[in-house]
Amino acid sequence: MSRFFELLNKTAGQTKQRGSPWDLLLAPQVPNGDAQQMPSEVPIATTVPTAPTINEAPALAFEPHSKDRIFALHNDRNLAAENIRILAGRLNYLQRQLLFKTLLISGTTKGEGKTVIAANLAITLASRDNKRVLLIDGDTRQASVSRLFNAESSPGLNDCLSSGTPPFQFLRRMPTMSLWLLPVGHGAETPLRAGQLGQLLARLSVEFEWIIIDSAPITLLANAAAWAVAAERYLLVVRRGVTPKKMFSKALESIDQNKLLGAVMNDCIDQSQTHYTRYYQQIARGEDTSSSL
Ligand SMILES: Nc1ncnc2c1ncn2[C@@H]1O[C@H](COP(=O)(O)OP(=O)(O)OP(=O)(O)O)[C@@H](O)[C@H]1O
Ligand SMILES: [Mg+2]
Repeated sequence: MSRFFELLNKTAGQTKQRGSPWDLLLAPQVPNGDAQQMPSEVPIATTVPTAPTINEAPALAFEPHSKDRIFALHNDRNLAAENIRILAGRLNYLQRQLLFKTLLISGTTKGEGKTVIAANLAITLASRDNKRVLLIDGDTRQASVSRLFNAESSPGLNDCLSSGTPPFQFLRRMPTMSLWLLPVGHGAETPLRAGQLGQLLARLSVEFEWIIIDSAPITLLANAAAWAVAAERYLLVVRRGVTPKKMFSKALESIDQNKLLGAVMNDCIDQSQTHYTRYYQQIARGEDTSSSL
């Protein structure tokens, strides 16, 4: 793992804060005069079943089998960990400016390092300021994050969506950290719907300060496109020698540019940030470039 750069700056405009469906549940409105008219014999429930809180989430049985992939946890002195810390710092700054919580980590093709970056970013955000961070395994086809955290056999996103059960009971907590995971879960992979994912994220946003979503490539799979609609912001990962320029260009055309915070260059041997910035500008102007980064 060598270098990461956050290369593109934030997009203009402020994100409106979303209302949560929970707001309605927590603040029921009683029409004027109803209190006086309520007959005394109406039974009043004295106990209300409570949904599990995030602090009751079972701990992950976490024995990282690939320590080098979760470098932010084990070796905070290496360059990759340092660059992820820089990225986390910039994202915290952008979050204060733009008021968002949900961040999709995506890209244009397989093997760019989306999962590695999503996992290490979530760990870094959780350990920096003790913020409550949720990492969602949104790549239902591969469950890479779930496997990375030994949670591939836990129920999760698929179970939540298919049963309509609130998401909190599917969360797992990383011991000793303010980091939670929503694994992919069981069951047949069903097409994700942006509306359903939006409701899920709105519910989870009540409890978390950051929600990081690992997804499949945005241009290849409909599920990733659904996440892109539901998430408030996204980062695209590109990897030198892996990300085809044409596909990246297509991805830029197909996404909502207003939600794009920037790109992260993974595994970059070029020491200059200007390399990628220049490339991005060429792409934006529609100029021809060679086939891959
Ligand atoms: N900078 C890097 N240096 C060396 N190896 C890397 C680097 N980034 C990622 N890898 C390795 O490349 C492989 C693919 O990484 P990862 O699974 O994060 O990619 P991905 O973009 O999530 O792929 P997919 O689209 O299949 O989900 C993994 O084995 C990972 O350890
Ligand atoms: Mg992945």
